[in-house]
Amino acid sequence: MLPFTRPTISQEEIDAVVEVLRSGWLATGPKVQRFEKELADYIGGGVEVRAFNSGTSALEAALLASDIGPGDEVIVPALSFVASANVVLRVGAKPVFVDVDLSSRNLDVEKVKGAMSEKTRGIIPVHFSGLPVDMEPIYKLSQENRITVIEDACHAIGSSYNGAMIGAAGNPACFSFHPNKNMTTIEGGALSCKDVAFMKRIERIRFHGIERNEQGEIFVSEWGGKMNLSDVSAAMGIVQLGKLDDFNRQRERLAHRYFEQLPDHPALVKPANGKGHSWHMFCVCIDGEAIGKSRQEIIDFFREHDIAVGMHYPAMHLFPLYRRLGYQAGDFPNAEQIGAQTLTLPLFPGMTDRDVDMVCETINSLLSSGK
Ligand SMILES: Cc1ncc(COP(=O)(O)O)c(C=O)c1O
Repeated sequence: MLPFTRPTISQEEIDAVVEVLRSGWLATGPKVQRFEKELADYIGGGVEVRAFNSGTSALEAALLASDIGPGDEVIVPALSFVASANVVLRVGAKPVFVDVDLSSRNLDVEKVKGAMSEKTRGIIPVHFSGLPVDMEPIYKLSQENRITVIEDACHAIGSSYNGAMIGAAGNPACFSFHPNKNMTTIEGGALSCKDVAFMKRIERIRFHGIERNEQGEIFVSEWGGKMNLSDVSAAMGIVQLGKLDDFNRQRERLAHRYFEQLPDHPALVKPANGKGHSWHMFCVCIDGEAIGKSRQEIIDFFREHDIAVGMHYPAMHLFPLYRRLGYQAGDFPNAEQIGAQTLTLPLFPGMTDRDVDMVCETINSLLSSGK
């Protein structure tokens, strides 16, 4: 079975992990420090980086350190992994969904404007599948209205916008290193930002609110969680980061092969391409109705051909948790259409051209088997 994603782990990662395991220091320590420094250098723009145990906790910490909480609203695209909205609820604020563009799957500034109220304190743009959101108009809007922009860059390590890496702009940007991402620390995440005082607060929120005075005594003046990364994970991250550009080049090459080999068919919508894309995922839409097949029949068709496909993602506002906020079917037609039709095709650096061709041949026969 060809999986839709698979981490690329070699002896180097294994050796790096074993070295930490033998060192006697497993939790947050020198490897995390080095990982943070190397990530900051990779992202550029003079940002600092703090490592987290997940992208979710990086997002939650960014909201808390921005003083976003009860009574506040945060604008979130209706199409993302549910963590993008859950973190807003977690800090006591209200996620306000906006629809996404059918082709890019990213939010656009006009829809953001339409969702703003006097309670809007934050916007969480998600660089869907690694395709950068057009950030300039969003930064402009945020400056005019004093709204914090927290980028959900969990798909976007290695993506770039206007020639700079995602994360380099200086506002908080949060990354995930879950095993299905372009690089992995097993579980893990990171937050980049240029504001030094903000990052000091992030450090406290990340670890029990703990601060130290000059004598090295600890004190706690605000709440903090337990969101730190282990040295074992960081050791893996250091090796993976060194290979990230190669991984992403490989992803890009495979994505281009998909574009070359996929048929043009009215029932098939290919993903948007664009500058700075890191090709975290290659998501298509297949209109089952147009080919007389249910979603399950389509997924089964791939399965019968030894191909696993992903679904990124169901529209979030239709989950029971968010319907309770008053959202309903019909609110965000693009997110709903994508949610109903999306399929993530296999894409990972270890894939071969032959694998891509096999997926494309399967899609060809799926489309021609329809009515
Ligand atoms: C868009 C998006 N945001 C946030 C997250 C959360 O990241 P993590 O799984 O590292 O907590 C993910 C994870 O898949 C994601 O895809």
